[in-house]
Amino acid sequence: MFVTIEGPEGSGKSSVTKEVAARLEKEGFEVVLTREPGGTPIAEQIRNVILDKENTKMDPVTEALLYAASRRQHLVEKVWPLTKEGKIVISDRFIDSSLAYQGGARNLGIDYILELNHFATEGYFPDLTLLFDIEPELGLKRIAANKGREVNRLDLEKIEFHHQVRQTFLDIAHRFPDRFVILDASKSFEEVIEDAYHAIKDRLASCK
Ligand code: TYD
Repeated sequence: MFVTIEGPEGSGKSSVTKEVAARLEKEGFEVVLTREPGGTPIAEQIRNVILDKENTKMDPVTEALLYAASRRQHLVEKVWPLTKEGKIVISDRFIDSSLAYQGGARNLGIDYILELNHFATEGYFPDLTLLFDIEPELGLKRIAANKGREVNRLDLEKIEFHHQVRQTFLDIAHRFPDRFVILDASKSFEEVIEDAYHAIKDRLASCK
């Protein structure tokens, strides 16, 4: 099973996912956590170029292509082989981040980004996508409070950008209702863990 975790900045998705993965492993599932952009050495090199704060001149289409290139490498080297072995692969961000950030917030258009990604993914989609939905103001406040997290090029965008990201995520979730589960990420850490865990277990049960 391939599960993707999506949401705006500061939604707590990475910390929650680690807890949920640990719980599934305790039950005997083999879980692999990974992330985008990145997840393999080549894809991590592409990540460094994309997120470098010095790269202020990056063209939005170049940015979209780099995310898609990183995604392709990640699928070929990691996601496809591991899911074939029967592992649960959970990726912190995937195609829907491109749809929300490049398609929505950068205004390139969802369908254009879908098409561009189709080339990289060969039409492959996750079995389940958890959307950690949160007000951008609250998310950014959480990031500011979390001193351990490095600020990247996209965190520095204006608040309207983050509103656009959130709205596009919600639009995509309604467009692909079979794949998406929307979680209220403004709830307490423990509650969100519980919700995310049950969403994955429900999907596992229905995949059997
Ligand atoms: P990261 O530090 O991993 O952020 P987060 O902890 O919020 O996931 O940086 C990834 C950034 O890249 C994040 O701002 C979202 C953005 N992004 C896109 O714009 N498009 C994409 O396709 C992906 C995968 C990420």
